[in-house]
Amino acid sequence: MTRDQAREKVIFALDTGEFAHVQYWAETLADKVGMFKVGKQLFTACGPAAVRMIQKIGGEVFLDLKFHDIPNTVAMASVEAARMGVKLFNLHALGGYEMMATTVEALDREFKGEKRAKVLAVTILTSSTEETLRDVGIEHAVPEMVVKLAILAKKAGIDGVVASPREIPLIREACGNDFLIVTPGVRPSFAALNDQKRVMTPVEAVQAGSDYLVIGRPIGDAPDPAAAAELILDEIVAG
Ligand code: C5P
Repeated sequence: MTRDQAREKVIFALDTGEFAHVQYWAETLADKVGMFKVGKQLFTACGPAAVRMIQKIGGEVFLDLKFHDIPNTVAMASVEAARMGVKLFNLHALGGYEMMATTVEALDREFKGEKRAKVLAVTILTSSTEETLRDVGIEHAVPEMVVKLAILAKKAGIDGVVASPREIPLIREACGNDFLIVTPGVRPSFAALNDQKRVMTPVEAVQAGSDYLVIGRPIGDAPDPAAAAELILDEIVAG
């Protein structure tokens, strides 16, 4: 894999509420990573201005707001997300088939075959366990639910899923090679685990078939974030 291909795969998680950090990260990392993930913390604090700042510097955005609401509300919010010009955004597959299909239809109506944001579904959050699922009335094993929801998302026209790297083989088998798989829970060999429990290295995740790797603290907390991002690209290219 070339360095450019490796860079395209890395999504830096902008886990901050400070606009000044966004500017710093975007400037420091724009030519080192393929995308910046804007999540609920940053979007709640700074709104679309954070997205525009990244785009102004030439960065691509994954808007990680995990929509989950009635179909019409999610569809309309999704059209607004796509109008911002983000490359990826997401919703919860647990919102159901109609919520996902209505969203895809609304996007297709709005963009009419033009290039538009890709939509990802979150299946089961990696913080969930069999026990937490049982508490909310779901009596199935986590991997079974992950595959069930990935298949449902694909059927609704969703472009891919966010998943643990461990779930890649099951999802690939069920949904094929064209379905995007975006994986957090990635730790380069030089980095601390932080609160992540079941991790893979970037090379392992790419070899397992991950299309994009979401990496936050191993880059953001490093004394030299640009150098840490370069090290990750070295690892992927070498692997
Ligand atoms: O710092 P770290 O690399 O652990 O950041 C991972 C990012 O991916 C964070 O923004 C986290 O919220 C997100 N994420 C995750 N696990 C999931 C879904 C999202 O770590 N299952």
